[in-house]
Amino acid sequence: MSHSQAADERVAHDETFPEAVDAVRTRRSGHNFDPDEDLADETLEALVRDATLAPSSYNLQPWEFVAVQDEDRLENVVELAYGQEHVREAGTAILVVGHTEAKTADRVFDEWVEAGRMDEAAAEQTKAQSVEMYEDERFGRDYAVRNASLAAQNLLLSAHARGLKATPMIGFDAEGMAELLDLPDDEIPVMLIAVGPSGGPEPERLPRRSVDEVLHRESY
Ligand SMILES: Cc1cc2nc3c(=O)[nH]c(=O)nc-3n(C[C@H](O)[C@H](O)[C@H](O)COP(=O)(O)O)c2cc1C
Repeated sequence: MSHSQAADERVAHDETFPEAVDAVRTRRSGHNFDPDEDLADETLEALVRDATLAPSSYNLQPWEFVAVQDEDRLENVVELAYGQEHVREAGTAILVVGHTEAKTADRVFDEWVEAGRMDEAAAEQTKAQSVEMYEDERFGRDYAVRNASLAAQNLLLSAHARGLKATPMIGFDAEGMAELLDLPDDEIPVMLIAVGPSGGPEPERLPRRSVDEVLHRESY
């Protein structure tokens, strides 16, 4: 059996959380939202809670979530997203924001020490290294995008698991969005997510590149 055939079948490791595997396999980027139904406030909070459970470098959690639901503000978001209609129809746009600096380091490294997972000297050293590393502009942007993207994916899967539609988007004017939503200078927009109740099915998924094509063993 080829590796790609195996990938299409349920294998032993899938069975611990089969519904989670199904969620990964059936998640779609939604363009068909129900414009007449709103997202309940508790649901918005549940989505963000699930997003915050994403892994992050040293558990620094360098992310923020800006939810826009006010009609006029959402219209501004649609404009900055080059008129993408599904943002309006979703009724909620969440900008996932990433920190470009390790600004949570003091608190988080204290938590490592309090939990007995790191001694004070190691925490001080690691903290100093993290803070210094992300002073470099490129590392800082990488830090923001890597960590906040994982939070965004958690949010997408959580929305799907709750029967909602969600679409990740980078088709927007990032500078304009940062200004509209009052982002601090050391934080950047990473992903805009349109999320809301489903308005019906999506078109068939486009083909995915096969495992045989994308999996490289031992070296590229
Ligand atoms: C980084 C990124 C940027 C994207 N930008 C947009 C976007 O601006 N507008 C949009 O409608 N979909 C956007 N998408 C959704 C993709 O079109 C979609 O994920 C892809 O076609 C695969 O479909 P699926 O998510 O349903 O499997 C984006 C997805 C990613 C990961």
